[in-house]
Amino acid sequence: MYKERLLTPGPTPIPQRVLQAMDLPMLHHRSDVFKKELIKACEGTRWLLGWDSDPIFLACSGTGAMEASLLNTCAPGDTIITVNGGVFGARWGKIAERLQLQAKEIEVSWGSPVTVEQAQQAVLANPHAKAFCIQHSETSTTVLHPVAEVLCAVKAAAPKMLTIVDGISSCATTPFPGNPSTVDMYIAGSQKALMLPPGLSIMVLSQLAWDSVEAGPKRSLYFDLAGERKSLKGGETSWTPASTIIVGLNAAIDMFKAEGLEPIYRRHELLSRMARRGVRALGCEVLAPDAPCPSVTGFVPPPSIDADALRSAVRSRFGIRLAGGQGKFKGKVIRIGHMGYVDPFDVTATISALGLSLKSMGAPVQAGDALAECLKELDA
Ligand SMILES: Cc1ncc(COP(=O)(O)O)c(C=O)c1O
Repeated sequence: MYKERLLTPGPTPIPQRVLQAMDLPMLHHRSDVFKKELIKACEGTRWLLGWDSDPIFLACSGTGAMEASLLNTCAPGDTIITVNGGVFGARWGKIAERLQLQAKEIEVSWGSPVTVEQAQQAVLANPHAKAFCIQHSETSTTVLHPVAEVLCAVKAAAPKMLTIVDGISSCATTPFPGNPSTVDMYIAGSQKALMLPPGLSIMVLSQLAWDSVEAGPKRSLYFDLAGERKSLKGGETSWTPASTIIVGLNAAIDMFKAEGLEPIYRRHELLSRMARRGVRALGCEVLAPDAPCPSVTGFVPPPSIDADALRSAVRSRFGIRLAGGQGKFKGKVIRIGHMGYVDPFDVTATISALGLSLKSMGAPVQAGDALAECLKELDA
C-alpha cells in the first residue's frame, strides 16, 4: 500500500484541520453564524495579503475572477496589455477576445520571466491601455515573473493604468508583489496554496480600481464587483457564496497565522530547491532555471523517457499524482506541485518515486543519489 499523494499545482492536499472545520451541518448563508465567518474571512484575508480594505469573495474558479476583473473595468473596444509567457498569460487574451477588448500581448518565451524593459516598452507604445495584466507565477511554465519591479515601471510610465495581478498559484507561497499603489487588482484561488477545495476566488482592489469599477460598464450581473462590495457592507455576498469553503478559509488562515508568513515563504523556497536539485540529479532538465516559482517545479525527463509514461508509472506504482505539461509543453514535461499543505518529505517521496520509476524504465539513474542531493537542501 502506498498513500495517495497529490503533488499537483492545484488542486492540492487539504489539511485535516481544514477538513474538520468544513465538516459541519450546512450553514445558511444569510444566518448570523455565517456572517461571522464572512467577517472573519475578510479580516484574515486582509492579514494574509497585507491589504487595508475588504476582499471580494466570488463563487467561481480563478478564471472567473480573471474575467470579472476585466468585465468590471473595461468596455468593448478598450485596449489592455497582457504578459503572455504561458497558458495562463494567454488566457487574458482569450478573455479579452470574448469581451471585445484589444489585447496587446507582450510575448515572453516559455520558461523566461518578462523583463521590466519589455513592460516599459509595451506601456509606452500603448499609453492609453486600460489595464496591464500579468501572472505572478505562470503555473504552466513554472516561472515567477518579477511583478513588483514590473508594476513599479508600469505605474511610473502610466499611473492611471490599472494593474491586474493573477496571484492564483503564488498567493501564500511568496510575498505579495507590491502594495495598493502598484497593484490595483489581485486575484487568489482556493485550490492552490490556500489548501482548500476548488470553487472560491478572492479579489482585492485598490482605490483606483474601485473608482474604475464604480464608474465602469455594468456588463455582468453575476460578477458585479460594486454590487458585491455593497452586499459585504451588510455582512453578505450578493449571491449564494461558496460558504463551506469560506469556513475552511478561516481554518486555513488560522494555520497560516500559527506558522507565520515568513516561515511559509521560506518553506516554499525550500521545497522548490529540494525538488529542483532532486530532479536535476535524476538527469532531468529543470524549466525556468533563472526565475523558478516556489510553488511548482517543472522538468523535462531524460532523453528517450516519455514524460506521460513516467508520470503514469509514478502514480500507478507509488500513488503520487503529478501534473503534466500544458499547451505546447503537453506530453513533454512533468510538474511537481509543492504549494500549500506540502512538507519536505512529500518532496523526498516524489524524488524517490521518480528515481525508481526512471530506473525501471531504463534510465541510467540511481534514486538514492538523487535523494541524497535533495536531502542536502534540507540539511543545509
Ligand atoms: C496562474 C493561474 N491562473 C489561472 C488559473 C485558472 O484557474 P482555474 O482553473 O481555477 O480557473 C490557474 C489554474 O491552474 C493558474 O495556475
